Amino acid sequence: MAMYMPEKVELIEVCPRDGFQNIHDMIPTEKKVAIIKKLAKAGFKRMEITSFVSPKAIPQMADARAVTAAVMDTLRAEGVEAVALVPNARGAEDAIACGIDELTFVISVSRAHNMANVRRTPEESMEQFKGLVEKYGHQIKFRLGLATALGCPFGEEITAERVAAMTKFGLDLGCEEVMIADTVGISNPVRTYKLMRELLMQFGAQRFVMHLHDTRGLALANTVAAMQVGIHKFESAAGGLGGCPFAPGAAGNVATEDVLNMMTQMGIETGIDAGRLMEAVSLIREDVHASIVSHMALLCPGAPEPA
Ligand code: COA
Ligand code: ZN
Repeated sequence: MAMYMPEKVELIEVCPRDGFQNIHDMIPTEKKVAIIKKLAKAGFKRMEITSFVSPKAIPQMADARAVTAAVMDTLRAEGVEAVALVPNARGAEDAIACGIDELTFVISVSRAHNMANVRRTPEESMEQFKGLVEKYGHQIKFRLGLATALGCPFGEEITAERVAAMTKFGLDLGCEEVMIADTVGISNPVRTYKLMRELLMQFGAQRFVMHLHDTRGLALANTVAAMQVGIHKFESAAGGLGGCPFAPGAAGNVATEDVLNMMTQMGIETGIDAGRLMEAVSLIREDVHASIVSHMALLCPGAPEPA
């Protein structure tokens, strides 16, 4: 029996937000801008370029306005929609004023992680998100991101029923998509398959974007598990950077170049140019004080090309 795989997937690049937010040394704004512009030429249709959050919470994102202003023309010219993460009304207002196309609002399914991340209970965050969508939903597209949907760093049980209820909440508010995040890279292919099958049966594949971290090396396996169910939208970070500063032990996102390589080897269309993507990875390697941990970036010269 043939294994089901989508013919085409969308890869959403998140290195400039999730990747950079966890870097301790401040990356100069012009270097972020150069990296985003390089990434924009690789063929992404959407890129999360920054977050409009409290600089006390995430100092690295303090230049969100300057970064956005500097890259917007290039993004428009390349046909890339700008996505930004916001935690509150102030963030949403700033992002709208800067011309961002789509906002991600993250709520953690785990109560402890939501408290650590935004100092609110998930219920309080849901109430807040409802207010934001009611107030700004006619001006900008909102996406609900469910952090820790595949496991909690503080040991809380995360049930599929709870994830489904929070998904329904987001869709009922008018979101077109809900992002399902394995924030700490704690899931495994069976868990991912079961959760995503449950969600797909209730809401349909087009509603979901997956966001997987590779803490234990299972992000590509989780990606395949999600695709087997029918998921066809994935976030990833060039260079494998990333991690939530408020989730203990969180490591990098699955690397875009590794996801791209896997998709290409499997004959799945992405629209991404591998050469251009690797140019951006080289720039990240030069300009950002972080280890590049992707397999493709560390590939030994002379490694055989798959036929
Ligand atoms: N942009 C810029 N500054 C902001 C802001 C925003 N969107 N939201 C709040 N602030 C500032 C406030 O002006 C205030 O500054 P002050 O102390 O100089 O007066 C400070 O941040 C704290 O604001 P407050 O409203 O009291 O919020 P808080 O302390 O309860 O923090 C959040 C709550 C949500 C604003 C903060 O925790 C946050 O930004 N979290 C984001 C976490 C994140 O990005 N995690 C990783 C991605 S999932
Ligand atoms: Zn993440």
